[in-house]
Amino acid sequence: MEKKSTAEIKGTKAKPFLRWAGGKKWLQKHLNSLLPTSGFNNYHEPFLGGGAMFFSLQPSNKAFLSDLNNDLIATYQTLKIDASEVIKELKKYKNEEDFYYEIRDKKYRNSARLAAKFIYLNQTSFNGIYRVNLRGEYNVPFGYRTKDFVETENLLSVSKTLKSATIFNGDFELATDNIKKKDLVFLDPPYTVSHNDNGFIKYNQKLFSLEDQYRLSKLIDVVKSKGAYYILTNAAHVAIDEIFEKGDRKLELSRANLIGGTNAQRGHTKEFIFTNIENEL
Ligand SMILES: C[S@@+](CC[C@H](N)C(=O)[O-])C[C@H]1O[C@@H](n2cnc3c(N)ncnc32)[C@H](O)[C@@H]1O
Repeated sequence: MEKKSTAEIKGTKAKPFLRWAGGKKWLQKHLNSLLPTSGFNNYHEPFLGGGAMFFSLQPSNKAFLSDLNNDLIATYQTLKIDASEVIKELKKYKNEEDFYYEIRDKKYRNSARLAAKFIYLNQTSFNGIYRVNLRGEYNVPFGYRTKDFVETENLLSVSKTLKSATIFNGDFELATDNIKKKDLVFLDPPYTVSHNDNGFIKYNQKLFSLEDQYRLSKLIDVVKSKGAYYILTNAAHVAIDEIFEKGDRKLELSRANLIGGTNAQRGHTKEFIFTNIENEL
């Protein structure tokens, strides 16, 4: 019989509550074979997004979760502290076009309202991409989706799962000081290098430049020098190969490209996983 995690024993296992570009749900089936067989200490995820890996693992030690997207992190922080207030707000919302645009234009100050607005727009918009205009205003249109956007049970479980996590906003380099020996660092940056070798694509609020990829490579050197583990996912591209080639393991995985709506980006894409974890696969 499969062993249950602490979260499953306590109640419903929390799952990601957001649709997020580049979400790593697909990686879960490869997860067990990737993790260090001797276990790990603390967990770090500095490109948190929808947190598919964190929710799948639900690590028993401390977790450090962060992202550059301030509204996203504020939502996690508020859910951690007061999910009931967020749910109460969400329950007032309607999945209707006029109502959607009304909420999209609202400027709230209250943290529960802001979190509810973030979740509502993410769940009822056209796609899961977080896109803002030059003034920083979310500008994704209404999605005509039928799925219920108030997942009460799940949001309460998410809140419980986040209780022991340290959640902060900022660049991935801020994770450095917290990383200690035998910790696991999961790195899932935006894939700014396109899959067909023809340049760069921008699919996120902030472009992740080639310079950023080099900075990330330096962070990995620090992780290794501290005796910690890393797992990096990235686009399968020759430029990425050159930057992250460190004599560690490299896997190439193929998956269905699920996000991106109507354009021609759908189909099978290849991704690299780099890791210094030496398990047999
Ligand atoms: C591919 S997504 C992560 C998806 C996530 N693994 C999931 O399962 O949903 C990349 C994330 O990196 C964040 N990001 C972009 N530039 C960053 C930076 N310099 N430092 C930290 N986070 C950054 C984006 O806001 C985005 O949420």
